[in-house]
Amino acid sequence: MAKKPTTRFVCQSCGAHYPKWAGRCEACGEWNSLVEESVEPTALKSGKIRSGRLQTVRLDGEAKPPPRINTSIDELDRVLGGGLVPASVVLVGGDPGIGKSTLMLQTTCALARSGHRILYVSGEESVDQIRLRAQRLGLADEKKTLDSLDLAASINVSDIVGSLEESRAHTVVVIDSIQTMWLESVESSPGSVAQVRASAFELIRLAKTLGFALILIGHVTKEGSLAGPRVLEHMVDAVMYFEGDRGHQFRILRAAKNRFGATDEIGVFAMTDAGLTEVPNPSALFLAERRGNIAGSAVFAGLEGTRPVLLEVQALLSPKAGDGAPRRAVVGWETSRLNMLLAVLDARCGLKLANMDVHLNVAGGLRIGEPAADLAIAAALVSAATGKPTSSTAAYFGEVGLSGEIRLVSQADQRLKEVAKLGFGEAVLPRRVSAGSARVKPPAGLKLVEIGHLTDLVG
Ligand code: TYD
Ligand code: MG
Repeated sequence: MAKKPTTRFVCQSCGAHYPKWAGRCEACGEWNSLVEESVEPTALKSGKIRSGRLQTVRLDGEAKPPPRINTSIDELDRVLGGGLVPASVVLVGGDPGIGKSTLMLQTTCALARSGHRILYVSGEESVDQIRLRAQRLGLADEKKTLDSLDLAASINVSDIVGSLEESRAHTVVVIDSIQTMWLESVESSPGSVAQVRASAFELIRLAKTLGFALILIGHVTKEGSLAGPRVLEHMVDAVMYFEGDRGHQFRILRAAKNRFGATDEIGVFAMTDAGLTEVPNPSALFLAERRGNIAGSAVFAGLEGTRPVLLEVQALLSPKAGDGAPRRAVVGWETSRLNMLLAVLDARCGLKLANMDVHLNVAGGLRIGEPAADLAIAAALVSAATGKPTSSTAAYFGEVGLSGEIRLVSQADQRLKEVAKLGFGEAVLPRRVSAGSARVKPPAGLKLVEIGHLTDLVG
């Protein structure tokens, strides 16, 4: 009989495994990502575990919503779906330096202040560094916080598990970061898929047995995936990304997966000298630097989750340089959607931009995912092409179809409320919003400019 292999080669990027080493992972195409790992026979097959019995239940039994631990940081609670769920696991990902540790330190201190016993383990920073930061941010003043927060600098998962099992007192445990964690029994270095997966598995198993909420911090690579351990995303209950441009003040917390809530909610924060502050009214922040009366700018009344958000979109046109294809540079939106809009503006409205380089930017660094932004972007493009600024008191929303028709979009009433709240005088939007099936009543004092076709915009 052929000897069973005792090791295998696991891709550190996607987790695929092979019997032999290769320079490139066939599954994800990554180079030099295969690392040798030992293959342990499973405990069940080797007879180490006695077989048990499953307890099954009926579908019509009592079903309770999960209890929630309020973090008292509203922007975070919103993204979590109403607070942390006991015995659940949340993975917080983001680029290095974006503010994950700061956010979690503030969260744990807030939780400790309301009496929850917290364990914060850092494998990245020393205890002194964390103390300094907490003291500078004024988080280490109250006795209650200090009494309820246990701080440790460690990368040793066995130590963490041992302490937690012994005390059994913690409601929330934060691990900063999972890539620094290390299990003695696994023969690879911290940060490798094997270590990250095994460490996370141990901690998750304990969270489920002891009932504490576990927050794992993870770093994201440039490509936007959690470095190496994409496998982690499947093991946890919720994945949140903390995003933002380091050059900008604000940060957005976005749920990519949430077993206990919606995934389209965002939480908005601003990074200040005093740490992260919540931004309950993001529209005002996003529009703060807007200057009226400049051609090429328009305000979009968008939606992020259940929350309306006003954003400025900016377009810049310049004569094409050289003989090649014109440039289409887009930040915060899809290039293919810009190309479609340009084609529609050309074919249906006679706006010729084929010889122009087009730069499009969503001010503030937010990413728009809705087609409802079409009309605002078309308005910015038309304004840039004609040199006429859009009205500084107008906000836009509506989807543009291939024949140039303006289509209805969802939740017009919510968008209009936000537009009125921020003091805009008029909303440019699809026809039939106030009549027809949608029947939206505009807030008092807001003028509705209903348009049916892009030509109405070009005038
Ligand atoms: P940090 O939370 O350490 O980021 P991460 O854990 O995601 O790597 O945040 C580091 C950055 O945040 C650092 O560049 C400085 C900035 N910062 C502030 O601007 N103000 C503050 O009060 C704090 C604590 C950090
Ligand atoms: Mg950090």
